[in-house]
Amino acid sequence: TLQAVSTRKGQTFHFGSTYDTYDANQSWFTSVFSTFYKHVVSENGCKWDATEPSQGTSSLTECLACQSFATTNGDTFRGHNTFWHSQTPSWLPGSFSASQVVNTIIPQHVQQEIQGMGASITSWDVVNEVVGDGVSNGMTPLQCVQNKKVWPTVTSDGSSTALVTDLSFIYAAFKTAFTYAGSSTRLAINEYNTGGQDAKTACIISLIQNIQNNTAIPFNRLAVGFQSHLTASTGGFYTKSALATTFSTLAALGVESMITELDISLNSNNQANLRYQAAIWGDYLDACLYAANCNEFINWDPRDDLSWRGTSAAATLFDGNGNPKLAAYEVAARLANYA
Ligand code: XIL
Repeated sequence: TLQAVSTRKGQTFHFGSTYDTYDANQSWFTSVFSTFYKHVVSENGCKWDATEPSQGTSSLTECLACQSFATTNGDTFRGHNTFWHSQTPSWLPGSFSASQVVNTIIPQHVQQEIQGMGASITSWDVVNEVVGDGVSNGMTPLQCVQNKKVWPTVTSDGSSTALVTDLSFIYAAFKTAFTYAGSSTRLAINEYNTGGQDAKTACIISLIQNIQNNTAIPFNRLAVGFQSHLTASTGGFYTKSALATTFSTLAALGVESMITELDISLNSNNQANLRYQAAIWGDYLDACLYAANCNEFINWDPRDDLSWRGTSAAATLFDGNGNPKLAAYEVAARLANYA
C-alpha cells in the first residue's frame, strides 16, 4: 500500500514510528517495521545528551544503531534532533558566553552529528520547540522565540528570563546543518501545539521565512514539523481543513510540512474513545496524504505500553500486547483509500 501511495504522490511517502535498541519487544519491532511502518526515528538516541556526552566527543552509537535497524528492515531514517532545550548533556549550559555557544558549541555539535549520520537522512529536526506557548498574533520571530522562557537554559544560566537577544543560535544550527546534510535532506523546525490558524502556528510560519532570509538556505530544503501530541478529550487538535490550510501556506513557499510525533491520548480506553481516536488519526493522515508537500507521517511510540504518554493514555496505534487497535485499521484503510 505504501508503495502505491508513493506512486500516486509522485514521491516516497515516509510512514513511520519511533524505535530505540533498548526498547522491549525487539522482535515485535522487527516485524512491525518491516511490514506496517517503513520509516524510523530514534526516540532518544540522536538527542544531544546521547551524541555529545562530553564536549567535543561524538557518540553516535545509538543513533547509528537505529539507522542500521531501519536499513536492515528496508526503511528510511529521519533525524531527531540536533538542538533542543531538553535532554542536553550535563556539560550544558556551563558558563559559556553567547558567542561561544553560537560560534563554537552549536556548529561543532551539529556538524558532528549531521556529518556523522551521513547523507541519506530524509529530514533533520535542526531545532526543536523554540517557540513559546504564550505568543500572540503579530509577534516577530524573535519575540516568538523569546517567549519560550525555557529555551535560554541551553544558552545561559537557566533563569526564567528569556536571555536570547537575537536568533543567531538558530541560524548557526541551520547553516551548519545545510553545509553537512545530504543534498535532498530537509531541514526542519519542529514544534508542538501547531497546525491550525493560531498565533503559535503563525510564529512558526514567520520563523521559517526568517530563517530562509538570514541563512539563504533555499525554501525547498526547509520543513516544518508538526509534532501533534494530541489529547482527544480536550479537543486539542486541528480539523483536516485547518491542517490543509496551514500545509498549503507552506507549500506556496516551497516548504515541506510533516507530522512528526503523532499520538492521541485518551482519558479512558473504551470503545467509543478508541473510535474517536481512530477518526482523529484518520483525519491527520488524510491531511498529510492529500497535501503534495506532506511526505513524512510519524507516530510517536508504536505501542501503548512503551508510550511516553503512559500506558493508560492508550495514545498509540498498537495496544500493550502489540495488537493493532481501531486506529491502526483506520490508518490502513485511509492509506488504501488514497492509493
Ligand atoms: C520524549 C521521549 O518519548 C521520552 O522517552 C523521553 O523521556 C522524553 O522525550 N517532544 C519531542 C520528543 O520532541 O523528543 C519527546 O520525546 C516528546 C515531546
